[in-house]
Formats: sequence, structure tokens, C-alpha cells
Amino acid sequence: MTEEFLVAKDLRKRFGDVPAVDGVSFTIRRQEIFGLLGPNGAGKTTIIRMLSTTLEPDAGGIEIGGRSVAEDSVGVRALIGVCPQELALYPELSARDNLVFFGRMAGLGSRQAKEAAAENLELVGLLDRAKDAVRKFSGGMKRRVNLAAALMSRPHLLFLDEPTVGIDPQSRNHIFETILRLRSEGMSVLYTTHYMEEADRLCSRIGVIDHGRLISLGTPAELKSAIGPPDEVTLEQVFLNLTGRNLRD
Ligand SMILES: Nc1ncnc2c1ncn2[C@@H]1O[C@H](COP(=O)(O)OP(=O)(O)O)[C@@H](O)[C@H]1O
Ligand SMILES: [Mg+2]
Repeated sequence: MTEEFLVAKDLRKRFGDVPAVDGVSFTIRRQEIFGLLGPNGAGKTTIIRMLSTTLEPDAGGIEIGGRSVAEDSVGVRALIGVCPQELALYPELSARDNLVFFGRMAGLGSRQAKEAAAENLELVGLLDRAKDAVRKFSGGMKRRVNLAAALMSRPHLLFLDEPTVGIDPQSRNHIFETILRLRSEGMSVLYTTHYMEEADRLCSRIGVIDHGRLISLGTPAELKSAIGPPDEVTLEQVFLNLTGRNLRD
């Protein structure tokens, strides 16, 4: 088996006149947290949708766990979990029933699904709220249930699309701890964000993306050392240096 779990080659996607993804190539290694860092509209979600079999690329190739997304999307789906940017939960159902539902959708038996639901709620720190309807939860708690839902199929590779936007610090820490624990258990993660300090803290390698193109790729220290001593440079400065703009603009 190769060290590379995901290989994306020259991905392209256009929406009308907008080249949303314009020739993007990268790999994700086993047990790696790979970050895609870029501003709103950079193309991060479009890349995740193509990698996770829900949007067909105009061009390019994707292999996950040695399986081609174009030729074996069913085989690929068995290896991945997707935690979308928009919440995908049933507000009237309890946290546990939401997870059991996603587990059953992923092919788990009823008992297996209940066990996995409890395990994943524990993992994201919400087991004590298992029976409460999701509509009663704070934004951060909903995000944690959303993450737990993506884990129900026990994926080898998890796609996390901006999981921490607008949430409280406690939920953010729960999400970070969950991701780090999953990695230590063997999972690979693709993490998109426009928060540089998150990418810096979590990711082993980062692809900086702007206007649908990868404008730099490397470890946080490599990206920073291009402009100065890594201890003194921030990824915000890296982005500014590469694009002439602020990441938050
Ligand atoms: N379904 C769509 N139809 C038309 N344009 C889209 C669609 N999805 C994304 N876009 C455009 O593609 C570009 C990249 O969007 P997106 O991948 O959502 O970026 P990000 O996730 O980095 O914020 C943006 O200009 C966005 O408006
Ligand atoms: Mg997005």
C-alpha cells in the first residue's frame, strides 16, 4: 500500500464563467491532517464535493485508497466520511436518533448503529445530551453532532468543511481533540478553513488556495520560512505575501 491515501490530479470545475477550481493537484497521506486554507469563494467546498463523489469534475483524476472516484464511486464512498459546511441534521430528532439514522444509511445494523452513536457522542463530548432534540442545541453543539454523524461509517478519510465557523471555544476544542484522536487511531483528514491559526495548529501540511488555484503547498514551517524565521512569521503574512491581500478581506 502506498503512503498516499488520496491523490488528486489537475482537478478542474467551472460554473458558467467562474473557474471555481482551476487545475488543483495534491495528495493526502495516511494519518495526515491536510489543510486547505483559503478565503471564501476560493474553491474549497467545490474541491470537497468532487473528492467525495457528489460533483463530477470537468477534468482531472481522483484516487482514494487506490480506488478511482470516476470508476468506483461506490467503493470510494465506503472509505470516506463527509462533514459538510452546512449542517445536515434533523432538528426534531434527538442527537442519538440523528446518528442512528446516519449509521443505518451507512449500512450498519440497528444494534451496531446504536452502539456507534453512543461512541461518537462520547467522542464529541455530548453523550449526556443524547436524548435531547438537536434544535435545542447551540451552534457549536450542532457542529459536534454533525461531525459525529460523519463518523458513523468509520471512515478512513474524513472531509471536514469549515467545521468551526462561528462556534464557541469549548466546541472548537472538542472538535480539535476529536480530530487529533481520530488521527492517532489511523484516520486521514482533509480540513478546510479560512482561519490560519487553526491550520497552523492542526495540519501537517497545508495547501493555500486562492481563486481556484493552489498557490503554495507545504508544512506550516515550510510555508512560513519562505518569508522569514518560522517562529516570527504567521500564515496570515504568508497569504498576504503570496496574494497581496489579507485572508480575511
Ligand atoms: N453550484 C454552484 N453554482 C455556481 N457557482 C458556484 C457553485 N458552487 C460554487 N460556486 C462558485 O465557485 C467559487 C468557489 O466556491 P466554493 O467552492 O464554495 O468556495 P469556498 O468553499 O472556498 O468558499 C465561488 O466563486 C462560488 O460562487
Ligand atoms: Mg466552502
